[in-house]
Amino acid sequence: MSADGEADTGFTDEEGIPFVGAGPGDPDLLTVAGRKLVEDADLVVHAGSLVNSELLDEFCADAERVNSVGKDLEELIPLMADAYESGRTVVRLHSGDPAIYGAALEQMDALAEAGVPSYLVPGVTSAFAASATLRTQLTLNEVSNHVVFTRPRGRTLSAEEDHISDFVGFGDTTVCIYLGTHAVSETMDRLLDEGHDPDTPVAVVYHASWPDEDVIEGTIETIGERVEDAGYRASALVIIGEAVNGSAYERSFLYGDWARGGDAPNDEPDTETQEPDNE
Ligand SMILES: C[S@@+](CC[C@H](N)C(=O)[O-])C[C@H]1O[C@@H](n2cnc3c(N)ncnc32)[C@H](O)[C@@H]1O
Repeated sequence: MSADGEADTGFTDEEGIPFVGAGPGDPDLLTVAGRKLVEDADLVVHAGSLVNSELLDEFCADAERVNSVGKDLEELIPLMADAYESGRTVVRLHSGDPAIYGAALEQMDALAEAGVPSYLVPGVTSAFAASATLRTQLTLNEVSNHVVFTRPRGRTLSAEEDHISDFVGFGDTTVCIYLGTHAVSETMDRLLDEGHDPDTPVAVVYHASWPDEDVIEGTIETIGERVEDAGYRASALVIIGEAVNGSAYERSFLYGDWARGGDAPNDEPDTETQEPDNE
């Protein structure tokens, strides 16, 4: 507990530069810890257009803001390190959660080499905002048992490293594709070529949680043309799998007989909580 009676988050009193997840866009989806840190900052280095400028206006209007897009490490690291060493409060703001396609570690390691400590503060990744928009769950009893966060081939991934087809092939897996808005048609064409069910549901959620959020729904066969018609080339999450529809699920054990003290399900209970591990 802190002196003012508030519970310590552990995230706001660490030493160094926090790498904060800004969440998917809506300023209300910034965590409480993230908000405290940003409000306290003198310098906020942010991830450009993926961080909603409304969030910056609302929580750090008086801070110096630097857009990291187009800046390489050689520019970014001295910028943050010099500010930190001169006593300024520096926050590095990533979109969503820094752990997902955020390239946070290479910056943190470079800062460490420059003698500047840093740490991570999680955020809401865009797949979670997109599933909320779709009013579904990414895992859904008897529909989807697994979730994959992935990206399509391109400059970063070779064709061999693109596993989208394998993930879709599992059948009971929800596949969340980041950084793939520009490639929806090509990705779907490949899935059709590789024999996947053309009726598999797909949703593309553009700017999840932003005021101009848009949802395009379809199937592996239809979604490519629909996204092209809408003209989206970036900033959308592509979700493939039956969970997109949020239907055809079975009731879980969580609110069934076991939870009411009846017979335990066959699944092993979680040993720490003694609760069933399926919700
Ligand atoms: C460089 S990655 C960063 C992901 C981020 N760290 C996260 O956790 O959401 C950028 C990609 O995230 C996805 N993305 C980020 N914000 C989004 C949003 N509000 N709605 C839909 N997709 C989003 C898009 O696929 C975009 O191409």
